[in-house]
Amino acid sequence: MAKEAIKYYGVDPWKITETGFNPERSRVSESIFSLGNEYMGTRGFFDEVYSGDSLKGNYFNGVWEDKPITYFEHFKGLSERCCFMINANNWIYTRIFANGEELDLAKCEVENFYRELDMKKGIVTRTFDWNGISFAFERFISMTERTVAAQKITVKSNGFEGEIKIVAGSDFTPIHEEENRNFWVEIHNSDACIVARTQSSGQRVYSAFRANLEAEKFFAEEKKSCAEYSINLKNGESAAFERLSVNITEKDKTVSDDTFIANCNKKANELFTVSYDEYLAKHESFWADVWNKLDITIDGDEENQQGVRFCIFNLHQTYHGEDGSLNVGAKGLTGEKYSGWTFWDSETYCLPFYMFNNPQAAKNLIMYRYNTLQQALDRAVEQDTKGACFPMVTIDGTESCGVWQHGNLEIHVTAAIAYAVWHYVTNLKDKDFLYDYGARLLVETSRYFASRGGFSPKNGDFGLYGVMGPDEFHMMVNNNTYTNYMVKKMFLYTIDVIEEMKKACPEKLPEVTDEELADFKLKADKMRISYDEETKLFEQHDGYFDLPHIDVNSISPDRVPIYKYWAYDSIFRVNMLKQPDVVLMLFFFSKDFTLEQKKANYDYYEARCFHESSLSPSIHSIMATEIGKDEQAYEYAKYASRIDLDDYNRNTHQGLHITSAAAAWMNIVYGFGGMRSDDDILTFNPTLPKQWKGYQFKILYREKILTVDIRNGKATFTLDGEAEPIRICGKEYMVGKDGVAVEI
Ligand code: BGC
Repeated sequence: MAKEAIKYYGVDPWKITETGFNPERSRVSESIFSLGNEYMGTRGFFDEVYSGDSLKGNYFNGVWEDKPITYFEHFKGLSERCCFMINANNWIYTRIFANGEELDLAKCEVENFYRELDMKKGIVTRTFDWNGISFAFERFISMTERTVAAQKITVKSNGFEGEIKIVAGSDFTPIHEEENRNFWVEIHNSDACIVARTQSSGQRVYSAFRANLEAEKFFAEEKKSCAEYSINLKNGESAAFERLSVNITEKDKTVSDDTFIANCNKKANELFTVSYDEYLAKHESFWADVWNKLDITIDGDEENQQGVRFCIFNLHQTYHGEDGSLNVGAKGLTGEKYSGWTFWDSETYCLPFYMFNNPQAAKNLIMYRYNTLQQALDRAVEQDTKGACFPMVTIDGTESCGVWQHGNLEIHVTAAIAYAVWHYVTNLKDKDFLYDYGARLLVETSRYFASRGGFSPKNGDFGLYGVMGPDEFHMMVNNNTYTNYMVKKMFLYTIDVIEEMKKACPEKLPEVTDEELADFKLKADKMRISYDEETKLFEQHDGYFDLPHIDVNSISPDRVPIYKYWAYDSIFRVNMLKQPDVVLMLFFFSKDFTLEQKKANYDYYEARCFHESSLSPSIHSIMATEIGKDEQAYEYAKYASRIDLDDYNRNTHQGLHITSAAAAWMNIVYGFGGMRSDDDILTFNPTLPKQWKGYQFKILYREKILTVDIRNGKATFTLDGEAEPIRICGKEYMVGKDGVAVEI
């Protein structure tokens, strides 16, 4: 593995700490200290003015703008419009003056700087001394009242005498960096309340705030609503400034501005009757409940412990299924890169985390696709195909990808949606969902692939031509094995579901003819899956084995990131992989493949993989564990859980890798825990990395909490309710309250 960790933050099982401010790492820290609650997110930039390098990013999930995608020449079927989540109002805008001198960490000498993210409580704090004053900042974005965000600044005089002036505001002027533009049009601005609308999508955001101190004055600047507060301190005295900010988004354009503002004022006034401390107490108890239900504890490895909790923490901050119209952005609400888009990551990498912790959120993730089915049907027509062709990247269900190679060729994303239906129903047995929504998704995705593929005139194989698999370093290839296998399985599953529904609920059957079902069956049976019985290798795609070899370990770290330092087309002419492809297939459909096949393919493809996608290391760790490559499994797990904390891919400054955080969770549960969820009941083959004394994780299984504890040569399974069958190390047990302990 050619990637190296940068060790910068303090290691602690529950906290991320920074001692001493390092301006060079300021953007990375802004990503790391981000807060969010699914609805809104704020990077960890400083409250007060900071004139150094900074991305003052505040984002609302689902608040976006769009722009045309232009090409040199018009080609039918390429996406022509891109939606992107935009930088919104800086609700925490603050200026601080001590006897007239402005605090700005790029210019002022401060001492004892310390910053901390407390993952147990969901708060970020920061302390330092300046000008004879000790400052303590605290912020949180409420998990229980999603429109509320809160800020507290405590000042204590250590020799300072005089006035501390605080200007607090809500500021719609920040630039959206990726577009180098501000997208907000102000429509209202008065006494600590500002409303603005996006330029083309016409979405509105209302923002108002109240503080515990009496304002000296309110004032409005363009796109900024402010209030000024004054604190007089004598030596030894202290004071606290607390502010609640209410931020409300509105997508319904039919409501007039006046009605929207009046409704928001009413709501905000109600929300302002609750105190900072009360919001904080509820917020902390939300997090206590989360950790109680799904914490992972690792004994004897604080770095991984911290890393895994950071991943769980950020998954919850990004999405917990409260609002079914939202989804998980690849970088969540922590930066502009990837534009708040939803990828196939949601159905493949994130779904298991939610399926086994928060089934409603899992269902909502798939419902998001069902609710955008019309856009996928329209897109299929544009592509000269039938059925539903889902987008590679999206916010509103349409394709936003401006790089056509990905947007048009990564058709595996449509297969991922069918896969998600199958995976969800297999585990959660939610037949209502399957009959009401899932079946339609299966039919439309099968219809798409049946029309997208073709038969080889050479041998009659059915295949998918001109595609890009999950490994994005090979473009316009034929018969990507991962995609072909996914589609084969989904054709067969669709047929099974329709046959089942013919008996169970014929009135709910989606429109599909017997001829179509026969066509799906033929194409499943004839699907090309290139496999060599002698070597046990699956060929990633037609001709992959002929590609010139490159030693991925010889690539120097200064040629990373690859897309920046390699000529674009040079990536596609060698056998280097960006991320797992065949190996991913072996994981997703674990029971379909033998250990021998897994070993052969892992050894072959792992040696060729550069892990340029953050989705890569955890899958390698999971598979390395299964085939007994313990050292590699451990190294990859560390890479996966600390990808952002240690900035392995040198791009944490752009935002956190949220969807790979879900993969890092899988790394423990599916990796070392050895769980597999592709059968009728859950199976486990737990192992204990030699670097750990023990570990424990919890999942929700059939509405009960299953606790798995692994230490001292034993794996103990306990279910907090009526016993359920679970296969452990190849044998089926009824696991209930008394627990089952198995030697490992
Ligand atoms: C990966 C894709 C992934 C995307 C978002 C890319 O680098 O290659 O597979 O969907 O990141 O995580």
